Amino acid sequence: MYYPEELVEEVRQRNDIVEVISGYVRLQRKGSNYMCCCPFHSEKTPSFSVNGARQIYKCFGCGEGGNVVTFVMKYENCTFPEALKILADRVGIELPQAEYSEEAKRKESRRQRLLEINKETAKFYYYQLRSQRGEKAKEYLDKRELSDETRKKFGLGYAPVKGEELLSYLRQKGFNDELIIAAGLAKNNERRGTTTQFWNRVMFPIQDINGRVIGFGGRIMGDSDSGPKYLNSPETEIFDKSRNLYGMNYARAARTGNIILCEGYMDVISMHQAGFTQAVASLGTAFTAGQAGVIKKYTKDVLLAYDSDGAGVKAALRAIGILRSAGMSGKIINMSPYKDPDEFIKNLGQAAFQERIDNAENSFMFEIRMMERDFDMNDPEEKTNFHNQIARRLCEFSEDIERENYIEAIADKYHMGFENLRKLVVSMAAKTGGYAVPIERPRSGIQSRNKKTPEENSKKIQRLFLTWISEYPQLYPKIKSYVTPEDFTEELYARVAERMFDDIENDSFSPAKIINMFEDEAEQNEAASLFTTQLPRLESEQEQEKAFNDILINLKKNSFDYHSARSSVDLAAQNKVLAGRKALEELSKTHISLK
Ligand code: GTP
Ligand code: MN
Repeated sequence: MYYPEELVEEVRQRNDIVEVISGYVRLQRKGSNYMCCCPFHSEKTPSFSVNGARQIYKCFGCGEGGNVVTFVMKYENCTFPEALKILADRVGIELPQAEYSEEAKRKESRRQRLLEINKETAKFYYYQLRSQRGEKAKEYLDKRELSDETRKKFGLGYAPVKGEELLSYLRQKGFNDELIIAAGLAKNNERRGTTTQFWNRVMFPIQDINGRVIGFGGRIMGDSDSGPKYLNSPETEIFDKSRNLYGMNYARAARTGNIILCEGYMDVISMHQAGFTQAVASLGTAFTAGQAGVIKKYTKDVLLAYDSDGAGVKAALRAIGILRSAGMSGKIINMSPYKDPDEFIKNLGQAAFQERIDNAENSFMFEIRMMERDFDMNDPEEKTNFHNQIARRLCEFSEDIERENYIEAIADKYHMGFENLRKLVVSMAAKTGGYAVPIERPRSGIQSRNKKTPEENSKKIQRLFLTWISEYPQLYPKIKSYVTPEDFTEELYARVAERMFDDIENDSFSPAKIINMFEDEAEQNEAASLFTTQLPRLESEQEQEKAFNDILINLKKNSFDYHSARSSVDLAAQNKVLAGRKALEELSKTHISLK
């Protein structure tokens, strides 16, 4: 949905960021800014700062930043148009009705219908559990020690033996069989017509992150052998198993600074009942990169509470890999001697589980410990193989400090001697082609000491340059004959530059306004970071000037190199190269002063 830009801008301007954020958290004045503990990550000392003059916010702990719209999107976990609506309502601006295409309208209303049918079904099951017919199911939940409050919170229900009852209930509510089937609640059976998916099971409604029912899981009562223990809804137009997590609608608000990932619905429910409201589970399928992406919006610290059996370990090892490639860190909660969190908590209680959380094992150490099981340590050859495998794994750390820390930890644990293991790792790296190249790391992680690639350097220069101009817009007239948006080879920066230069010309530059150009959360963050990065405070004005002039020259050089590399094929690029060379020559004779 697209609103005219002027309207977006009006909504933003009428909503003062300090006032809006004050409605959510307690801000305290600190100099010209306002500070509080960050609502987006867990912390004890405030590092979340709101700047009223620039109408932006930034957390120096977790790196979140943006304008008033971004804040609402992030806090309410909603889309750009939804955030805009909230803010427009707040100040009494009426947004025009969205002009949906016919196709979009149809899709939207179909989604709505599917959500409605799921909601009605959840209500039906919920009521059944509390009726006479739900006796057995109630007993089962009693046996599993679920409180009334817990049953309510998770909307637990019961699918009666006679499936037709749900069908007639839904039909009478105005849903046709096509929709009932599309929602995954029934199948079309050639001989028997429409038959329901679930009968005689305890029902677990599966909610999306906003608490809307998108599917169901159903469990047989007891350990009987009729059919699978759990049966889930199939994927539907609204039920994507790879992007949703059971319990995430509650866990997102837990603010514990971590998420606990478990295998089963019952585990999640037990943990919430014990106060661990940060517990989530995948949906009867293996953990996916899409789910990692969902979690990453809230935290990068994930604790795995998988089953302690062989299948659980295997699943945990897979999940660790997925988390790692998403730039997140994983730890493993030791469940022994119990099978899963549900059993653990029932037997040892909440405090003991908290202790296990506090002592969760680093995922790398866990992987090595699991690897060890494949080798017979009494056989010298196998032992050597094990050590070589360890060295190979250690080569996967691209950062020296991190690698050294792990070498130390492993050497210690497996009595290998720090220097010995280190030598082994170095020779392994030499044999296998060096250490891994860095992948995206958690933002709070150790700063990379590796050399940056030319592209990364160029990107950094472009970013710094824009930060400079945003802090000192008075520099723009002095550099405008040298620098154009085309000097920014990163698309996002080029868009920002174009807009920023225009706005400065028209005397209407505002960082918060520029952030509004982007609807995607990652892009907003990136744009916001341009305006929240602190430029290094250098001793003297000369040094400041030198820094800026260096950045300017480098920006032009990089742009020159970039366009030169393309100029043999492209006439427009050739012209840019010529202009770039001229600008570089002039610049080398010029000194831009900051005043
Ligand atoms: P309880 O026996 O109720 O405590 O279950 P659990 O939570 O210990 O489940 P388990 O470890 O057996 O399985 C974990 C998850 O895998 C469940 O929550 C389901 O999502 C899924 N699952 C288990 N059994 C089946 C099955 O037979 N079919 C399917 N499709 N999924 C299953
Ligand atoms: Mn269990």
